[in-house]
Amino acid sequence: MATPSQEDYLEVIWTLIQEKGYARVADVAERLGISAASASKMVQRLHHEGLLTYERYRGFNLTPMGYDKGRRLVERHRILERLLTHLALGTASDIYHIVEGIEHHFSVESLEPIRALVDYIEAHPGWWNEFRQAQTAGGPHAPPADAF
Ligand code: FE2
Repeated sequence: MATPSQEDYLEVIWTLIQEKGYARVADVAERLGISAASASKMVQRLHHEGLLTYERYRGFNLTPMGYDKGRRLVERHRILERLLTHLALGTASDIYHIVEGIEHHFSVESLEPIRALVDYIEAHPGWWNEFRQAQTAGGPHAPPADAF
C-alpha cells in the first residue's frame, strides 16, 4: 500500500475497536504494514483533530466524531467491495486492494448510486445472473473482444 491516508487509519482503528474494544499503536502499525513511529504520529494527529482520545502507552478509543467517521469509511469500503465481488473482479484479496486504491475518491453522495445498484443486484439475483451470463457468453451485451 502507498502511504496510508488518514482515512485508512480511521478504517483500521474503527475495525480494531469493533474487534477488541480498543486499539493500540502497534496493532494499527501492523494492520497497515507501517512502522510504529509512523502510526504513532498519525494517532497523535487524529487526537489533535478530535477524532480519538490518546494517552501515551495506553490503548486509545475513538471520540463519537471519530467513531462516526470511521463507521462511514468502513461502510464505503464494504459497498465497493460488494460491487467488485458481484463483478467477480478477482480473489477477496485482489478486491480488497482494488477497493483500497479507489475508495478515497468516493464522497458520501457519489456512493449512493453504487449502494442502490448493489442493493438492487442482491434483491434481483436472477436479473444479475442474466447480465453476467450475457457478459461471459459473448451475448448481445458482451463487451467487444478488443475492449482494452
Ligand atoms: Fe478501505
